[in-house]
Amino acid sequence: MVTDTTVARAFSPLTIGPLTLRNRFIKAATNEGMSPGGTPSKQLVQFHEDIAKGGVGMTTVAYCAVSPDGRSFVDQTTLNRDNVPHLKVLTDAVHRYGAAASAQITHGGAFNFIKEPSAGPPISSSGGFNNVGILSGKWRRQAMGPTHMAQVTDEFVQGARLARDAGFDAVEMHMGHGYLLSQFMSPVYNHRRDAYGGTPEQRARFPAEVLSRVLDAVGKDLAVVCKISVTDGIKNGNTASDGARGARILESAGAHMLVLSAGLSAASVDTMFGSSFPAANYPEWMSSPITKLAMLIYRLTAPKVTFHEMYLLEHARLVRAATRLPLAYLGGVKTLANVEQAMQEGFDAVTLGRALVHDANLVSAFASGRTQASGCTACNLCTAMMYTPAGTSCVLGQPGNVFLNSQPAAS
Ligand SMILES: Cc1cc2nc3c(=O)[nH]c(=O)nc-3n(C[C@H](O)[C@H](O)[C@H](O)COP(=O)(O)O)c2cc1C
Ligand code: SF4
Repeated sequence: MVTDTTVARAFSPLTIGPLTLRNRFIKAATNEGMSPGGTPSKQLVQFHEDIAKGGVGMTTVAYCAVSPDGRSFVDQTTLNRDNVPHLKVLTDAVHRYGAAASAQITHGGAFNFIKEPSAGPPISSSGGFNNVGILSGKWRRQAMGPTHMAQVTDEFVQGARLARDAGFDAVEMHMGHGYLLSQFMSPVYNHRRDAYGGTPEQRARFPAEVLSRVLDAVGKDLAVVCKISVTDGIKNGNTASDGARGARILESAGAHMLVLSAGLSAASVDTMFGSSFPAANYPEWMSSPITKLAMLIYRLTAPKVTFHEMYLLEHARLVRAATRLPLAYLGGVKTLANVEQAMQEGFDAVTLGRALVHDANLVSAFASGRTQASGCTACNLCTAMMYTPAGTSCVLGQPGNVFLNSQPAAS
């Protein structure tokens, strides 16, 4: 049993906006690969039910695209009316075990691997060459004008409303990792000369405007959380002090909580995971000669990053010092001692990705004293599992169920 008062705080309720969680452990969004053809499967329900049963305060359903164009991969859930009954099965299952459910609402912008033809080049903060579009043939990205901006804002609002209809308790607006709203926050993508580009405050302006509209629409019913990359972790990208400045804008716009991540999915994935990304992780469909060459160059030139616990703490501290709103620490939380440190440093919650993929029961094991540390080795091989027929799982444990992953959740 946990008795120490600092660590006991992690097991005490947390209020974020209109929502009170039973404790301060949050399952991070980890793309599940459990919505074949875009329909949430029974395996997706099982995955989150297991996490809820394992004791977290809230579980996050990864990458719920706010429009078909907002998907990065074909097999991702789009928040549309047809998917509401399937997601409702999931939120009911999570609630049965006393946890809350959050939908990560996302638009990929130029981070788009979908080969289907689209009306035009993928949208982003600025136009230009789109390196992640090499595989999909979408080599160019187009700068968003006022019409695109109004449309994307409406899509986020609509997505949040549908999440509410599906029984979610929170939405997590994805503003990190190089997706569309992050493409505004990051100077790697954002070269605008208007009021939406320039300083970190100006780059955060469009994400903050979308946030305000989402808060107006659902903020009385749902917690509205923003996940940001505090630093991009690459040359000419956002530094952590830029990230802290952007965080203040989101605080002023009324965010109920921030989840503090880092890195860009394409350019600095090592920063995101705090460890090097093995080449074996890239799935077959990414194995074009160009990608293989890019991977070879990357492996030869990128410095090896060795995992250590709490690897984003230094960056997160800057945001803690700059803001007063609830903050969720994320990045390499593996042990109860890590949880205690996050509480001691003034964070309000801890968000765990790989440690909960490795063991859905980790929080109850911490609570009962059965374990003090996760057995996750930070090998990152689970990131390749999301493209397999049963979806994301830890390579050290049991894979998911292929049959359940082929069955629509509400069937
Ligand atoms: C398999 C896998 C899939 C992921 N997919 C997403 C995602 O869809 N959205 C997201 O914001 N982060 C995603 N992440 C990143 C995690 O949310 C988290 O930022 C990262 O794993 C670091 O936290 P950790 O050290 O607790 O694992 C993913 C991570 C893993 C391991
Ligand atoms: S596959 Fe590796 S990184 Fe992923 S949960 Fe398992 S041990 Fe951790």
